[in-house]
Amino acid sequence: MTRIRKAVFPVAGLGTRFLPATKTVPKEMLPIVDRPLIQYAVDEAVEAGCDTLVFVTNRYKHAVADYFDKAYELEQKLEKSGRTEQLDLVRNILPPHVRAVFVTQAEALGLGHAVLCAKPIVGDEPFAVLLPDDLIWNRQRGAGGPGALRQMADEAEATGASVIAVQDVPPAQTGSYGIVATGDFDGRSAPIRAIVEKPRPEVAPSNLAVVGRYVLDGRIFDLLEKTTPGAGGEIQLTDAIAKLLAERPVHAYRFQGTRFDCGTHLGLIEATIRYALDHETLSDAARGMMQDALSELGVVDLD
Ligand code: G1P
Repeated sequence: MTRIRKAVFPVAGLGTRFLPATKTVPKEMLPIVDRPLIQYAVDEAVEAGCDTLVFVTNRYKHAVADYFDKAYELEQKLEKSGRTEQLDLVRNILPPHVRAVFVTQAEALGLGHAVLCAKPIVGDEPFAVLLPDDLIWNRQRGAGGPGALRQMADEAEATGASVIAVQDVPPAQTGSYGIVATGDFDGRSAPIRAIVEKPRPEVAPSNLAVVGRYVLDGRIFDLLEKTTPGAGGEIQLTDAIAKLLAERPVHAYRFQGTRFDCGTHLGLIEATIRYALDHETLSDAARGMMQDALSELGVVDLD
């Protein structure tokens, strides 16, 4: 498979779990320490070699488009007041060689439908899908490795297969994920034999769950066009992948890194704690703060 250049970010969801914040702020704009969730996913795609980022939004999500747009007035003010560090931050949201494209998903018909909305931009070449809720961390200071998508893009390029990120989840949680059945693992990857969206634990083929990173053959668009509503009455990406399996190889990939489910309150809290503890300038203070909080609550005596 040729190297992926395009990445699709489905960001049209309502984010109801994070109401009331998401009444006005898209969930992708919620910050983990010092950057919004979407920035982490974008950085991962750019690191994997993508230069065209396709955001599938809805008509209420201006904040995502504004974030990647040039902010003339803000830049002028920062420039005038000599705040060069902040100016750099605002100017370098995306590297100069990367372009952002926005397409609208007019109706919330499911993840598969959202991805299909990107077809006119992607064409029939291989591409990535990143769900920004799933934050994958492989950047610990002093011990970081390549991001999950970069690892998957390498695998896709080397094998010619589509590649889907997976991780083991507790069997009781299969109903929250796409679940795969695979052949034997060779290192981090195994051929997928079957994939099913959100099966109940009693009928799940395994407890190996799909995490929000995909490298997909462009053929998936034709298959999505023929996909009818599945689990939850939505057009599911998982169902189109099930069809792709019959035609072309698709690999499950156990990426290196830690995944935080930032679509839940606890996942967002966990990611915040971990990023803060690893942060270049904030880590010492954050550590002290957490120790104080835990000992004040009598949870642990750390002295
Ligand atoms: C989506 C996919 C599911 C996948 C999950 C990963 O579900 O449909 O197959 O396992 O993302 O986060 P959602 O979380 O949008 O319901």
